[in-house]
Amino acid sequence: MALLNILRYPDPRLYKRAAPVLEVDESVRALVRNMAETMYAAPGMGLAATQVDVHQRLIVIDASESRNELLVLINPEIVSSEGVQYREEGCLSVPGIYEPVERAERVTVRALGLDGGSFTIVAEELLAVCIQHEMDHLEGKIFVDYLSRLKQQRIKAKLQKQLRKTA
Ligand code: NI
Repeated sequence: MALLNILRYPDPRLYKRAAPVLEVDESVRALVRNMAETMYAAPGMGLAATQVDVHQRLIVIDASESRNELLVLINPEIVSSEGVQYREEGCLSVPGIYEPVERAERVTVRALGLDGGSFTIVAEELLAVCIQHEMDHLEGKIFVDYLSRLKQQRIKAKLQKQLRKTA
């Protein structure tokens, strides 16, 4: 297993749209293992393949407190959604920034699992937010894109300052 490098906002590669996974084979399973390890090590609640510069429709999530409920969604699709919630979100590609975003309260999602089989889950509250946030990454969308232009500029400036400090 290996820790993967996470792209940082506003890296243009975060804006690429991911392509469907054609076959859930050993290379996909190896990528999932490395993505999960990277997410747990960060630590983070979710990671989309886009964030590690692999532009395939694949996400890993663990929104549990015990950190032992890994959810792998391959080619996820939102079948239905209802309600509205606002929750503060963060992102491993936008370190140190937390802002509230409007999301659906409950989503029904269909995806492929690691065995290649299709399944459906109903998620609400925090898990629903995680799924919507990570699925946005696959579309080349980052949560800060929902914020005002002024806030986006402030976030970019703050991250550039952090980069200079760590360089
Ligand atoms: Ni994110």
